[in-house]
Amino acid sequence: MAHLKGVLLAGGKGSRLYPMTNVASKQLQPIFNKPMIYYPLTTMLLSGVRDVLIISSPDDLPRFEALLGNGQRWGIRLEYVVQPEPAGIAQALILGESFIGDDSVLLMLGDNLIYGRLDFLRTAIGQNGDGATIFAYRVRNPGEYGVVEFDGDLKVRSLEEKPKNPKSDWAVPGVYIYGPGVSRRAATLQPSARGELEITDLNRLYLAEGRLRAQPMGRGLAWLDTGTPENLLEAANFVHSIEARQGLFVGSPEEAAFRMGYLSAEGLRACVDSAPIGSDYRAWLARIADEDV
Ligand code: DAU
Repeated sequence: MAHLKGVLLAGGKGSRLYPMTNVASKQLQPIFNKPMIYYPLTTMLLSGVRDVLIISSPDDLPRFEALLGNGQRWGIRLEYVVQPEPAGIAQALILGESFIGDDSVLLMLGDNLIYGRLDFLRTAIGQNGDGATIFAYRVRNPGEYGVVEFDGDLKVRSLEEKPKNPKSDWAVPGVYIYGPGVSRRAATLQPSARGELEITDLNRLYLAEGRLRAQPMGRGLAWLDTGTPENLLEAANFVHSIEARQGLFVGSPEEAAFRMGYLSAEGLRACVDSAPIGSDYRAWLARIADEDV
């Protein structure tokens, strides 16, 4: 398998979260006790990605750089590219062309939170080859998402973006796997009626060539998106419930980097030392460094 890179899209206007998004983008808002972007970033690291490109608006990109840096302190590599206008999710793969090179890509939306065993993602990455893989999650309100319809053998019958009459309850989460060459394909897309390069149109290209896999995500996994104040509160409550019950943190990139072997024990110790004394986050990192969890 080609090397795997990560692209994390964290732009957009965040209009539905106004006025919170006036000075900090959606993906910088807190989900309980961490900035939103920590959660998809952690998922990426746990999936085997060590090189991540973060894409955001000209105003917000420097804020992500200030928050996350170049990744060195976590034993990973973080790069940054501006998206001048929110011209579509698929544009991320064009903007990321030189970063991606001939590698495979895990593309994630910075406002999607996945919680649960990630074996499904690691297995799908291993099986993707030069095609594309999308996932499917059963929801009550499919029409607000990309919607995939399967036949009995889990072969994709149709894929539509925010259909008025959804053909199934299976929404497509903001997590996508592409084989080498995806940037060239994305570059052939035309803007949709709403003026965006649609990720669903890119996936339909793969579908037309018979190279799209769609994999249902089990009920034991949680997929939350965080576009509205209600969603934000629900996601915060979700994270809080799990953390309060287990006494473990959800969405800690340092922990993920350490467990994946990207970050040494010494490096983790340095992360502890640089976190403010008295913060719960420092205490959490110290517990991992002390092998208390
Ligand atoms: O959340 C999953 C859904 O994400 C999928 O089911 C849909 O197929 C997909 O189109 C997308 O739908 P949304 O309506 O959620 O897309 P939205 O325009 O809200 O963008 C999703 C995130 O990506 C959001 O946090 C902002 C960011 N974004 C979006 C666009 C269009 C960018 O950073 N740049 C962009 O140009």
